[in-house]
Amino acid sequence: MKSSAIAHSNIALVKYWGRSRHHDPSLNIPLNDTVSMTKYGMTDDIHLQTHTTIEFSPEYNEDIVSVRGHEITGRHLERIINVIDELRSLAKIDYRFKMMSQNDFPTQAGLASSASAFAALTIAAADALGLRFSRENLSKIARLGSGSAARSIHGGFVYCYGGNSHETSYAEQICTLDCFDMHAVIAVVDSAKKEITSDEGHHLAHTSPFNEFRIEKSHQQAQELRRLILDNDFDAVGAIAEANCLYMHAVMMTSQPSLFYWQPATLNIIKTIQKLRKGGLPCYFTIDAGPNVHCLVQSKNMHEVQKLIGQIEGVKKTILVKPAEDAFVTGDHLF
Ligand code: PMV
Repeated sequence: MKSSAIAHSNIALVKYWGRSRHHDPSLNIPLNDTVSMTKYGMTDDIHLQTHTTIEFSPEYNEDIVSVRGHEITGRHLERIINVIDELRSLAKIDYRFKMMSQNDFPTQAGLASSASAFAALTIAAADALGLRFSRENLSKIARLGSGSAARSIHGGFVYCYGGNSHETSYAEQICTLDCFDMHAVIAVVDSAKKEITSDEGHHLAHTSPFNEFRIEKSHQQAQELRRLILDNDFDAVGAIAEANCLYMHAVMMTSQPSLFYWQPATLNIIKTIQKLRKGGLPCYFTIDAGPNVHCLVQSKNMHEVQKLIGQIEGVKKTILVKPAEDAFVTGDHLF
């Protein structure tokens, strides 16, 4: 009962911030629908992916988890067990497990490492337990680890329903990786672990006076974005993604305590992107819960934008990104 899987991270074009307080917190029900692009890193050996192997066996006396060679405990372990317990109960198997996982990019730095991590875990564990579920149903289980992980089950462009129950909160694919010409240049400003993780930050959303506005707008924007992606309208998608990102950061900055993820270089990049756009180069920014910026571009412009973004003061590194494929099972085991 052993299996391995690879999943990619994703960048939300319409983001969620905050989880429903009307449901069991372990269900991780996002406050709004979201839209994302699953991303494949094209730079050096950074593919923005997580590779996970899991084995269930009556021989194990406890659940053992190691990520990049470090044993995992505390809240992170709790989230992993949350996913595995659901799968164990669906498979009616109570064996303990051993799991090993490797990311090829910095974790907890606003690059959505939890998305690829919990998507890879779900795919590998379901396969090891012999559960054959649709991707929609797998996305519900991945959400028990992190809201954004529901989307990384699918490749290409993805719509995730916030929903109002475990059954109605899931992700589906809008279209495959080559249906819409959108790439990204990630400007890495800081790859250190952030002080407040998104897992912690979600609890503060409701303290912002702008929270309700953001939720309502995000629902509309998610639906609009699905249509605009299918219409292949890059500029309209970019403009909405940028606006939605600013709504989320406005909520973060105005929550109590205030969450300020930006650094001076983050603002330098925003200003540069706005200037490039005025000069006729179509590019848009989006920023997750961290200081790093994703600059959304069409493939024909990605190298030029990468060069220009790479020159900005405070940018330590750039990573080129294109849409990635679905999360998949691999025969390549880590142990
Ligand atoms: O799924 P989490 O708990 O890692 O939270 C994701 C939060 C954002 O990345 C900021 C937004 C999103 O929708 O991905």
